[in-house]
Amino acid sequence: MAEALRRKLVELDLLDRGKKVVRDGDFVVFPIAVEDSSAVKQLCEEFKCEVVRAEFPEVKPPSLTLHDVLSEKLPPHLLASLPRAYDVIGDIAIIELPEELLPYKELVGEALMKVNSHVKAVFAKAGKVNGAYRVRKLLHLAGENRTVTRHKEYGCIFSVDVASTYFSPRLSWEHKRIASLVKPGETVVDMFAGVGPFAIMITREVDATVYAIDLNPEAIKHLKINLQLNKLRGKVIPILGDAKEVVFKELKGIADRVIMNLPHSSHFFLDAACAALKEEGGIIHFYTVARDPSPLEQAEYLFSSSIPAGSRHIKRILHRRVVKAVAPREWLVVVDAEVT
Ligand SMILES: C[S@@+](CC[C@H](N)C(=O)[O-])C[C@H]1O[C@@H](n2cnc3c(N)ncnc32)[C@H](O)[C@@H]1O
Repeated sequence: MAEALRRKLVELDLLDRGKKVVRDGDFVVFPIAVEDSSAVKQLCEEFKCEVVRAEFPEVKPPSLTLHDVLSEKLPPHLLASLPRAYDVIGDIAIIELPEELLPYKELVGEALMKVNSHVKAVFAKAGKVNGAYRVRKLLHLAGENRTVTRHKEYGCIFSVDVASTYFSPRLSWEHKRIASLVKPGETVVDMFAGVGPFAIMITREVDATVYAIDLNPEAIKHLKINLQLNKLRGKVIPILGDAKEVVFKELKGIADRVIMNLPHSSHFFLDAACAALKEEGGIIHFYTVARDPSPLEQAEYLFSSSIPAGSRHIKRILHRRVVKAVAPREWLVVVDAEVT
C-alpha cells in the first residue's frame, strides 16, 4: 500500500525528492511538494490517507547531479534553469530544455550522460505531442543519434522508436494496473495500442486474447517485434487501422473489456467501444484529459455524456483516478466503467 502510494506520488511528480520518507508508528509519511492540489486530494481518497504536517530529514544528494557537472561550465544564472526531471526510455533520455539553455544543448546532453551512465543518447523535446500518432519532434543533444531503443517495464521488454511511436514510462503503473484486472479467457480490444504496453503486459500475465489496434504503421511494426521479445501466456492480434473502422468491420460484440487510451479524443470513439463489447456488456477503461478543480468529475461527465443515446447503459463506475500530470492543472484521468 505505502509502495503503491509512493509510486503514484513519483508518477504525478508530487513527491518532494529532497526530503526523506519517515515512519511514525504504523504510519508511513511521505514528503509532498504541493499540498493543495486536486491530485493530492484524490490520492487521499484513493489510499485512505491524509495530509499532515511533519518534519522530514534532507535526502543526501545523489553522487552526481546535472547541476554538479555543469556548475563550472554554465553561466551561474543559467544553473537554476536546469531541468530537475527527464524521461528515460530504454537507454535514451528525453529532456525539456528551456530556451535559454539551447546555446548549451551539447553540454547539457553530455552532462546528462555523465549523471546516468546507462543513457547512450539524449534528445530535447522540440514540440508538443501531437498529430494522430501522438508523437513529438525531438532535437538531438548528445550521444548516439539513434531513436530506437528497448525499454523494460515490470519484466516486459518494449522495442520503441521514440521519434515515430508514442511511449511514456510514466504510464507503467497504469499498464500494470489494467493487466492485473484481466481474467484468464477474457477478450480485450485495445483500441489505441501503440507499441503494445497494455497488450503485452496483459498477455504476459494471463491467458487472454487482445486485439491491439493502431493507426501508426511504425507502432504496429514495433508491437510485432515486442510479441517476439516477450514470453506470453495469451495471444495478441495486431491490427493496423483506424479503431472505429476496424471495430465496426470486424470486432463487433466480441470484447469483455475495451481499453481507450487516446486521451484527447477517446470520447469520439465511444460508439465503437460500445459496439466492441459483448451483447451482455463489459468493462471500458476510458482515458481523457481533465482540468482542475474537479478533473475526476469532469472525466466521468465526458464519459457518460459521450455514450451514444440508446446504445449502452453505465451500470456502475468502478474506479476513477488521476494517472499523470499533462500540463499545469491538467491531468490524464482514467474512468473504469461497467457497461451493459
Ligand atoms: C496515447 S497513445 C497510447 C499508446 C499505448 N496505449 C500506450 O499506453 O503507450 C495513442 C495511440 O493511438 C494511436 N491512434 C490515434 N488515432 C487512432 C485511431 N483512429 N485508430 C487507432 N489508433 C489510433 C496513435 O498512433 C497512438 O499510438
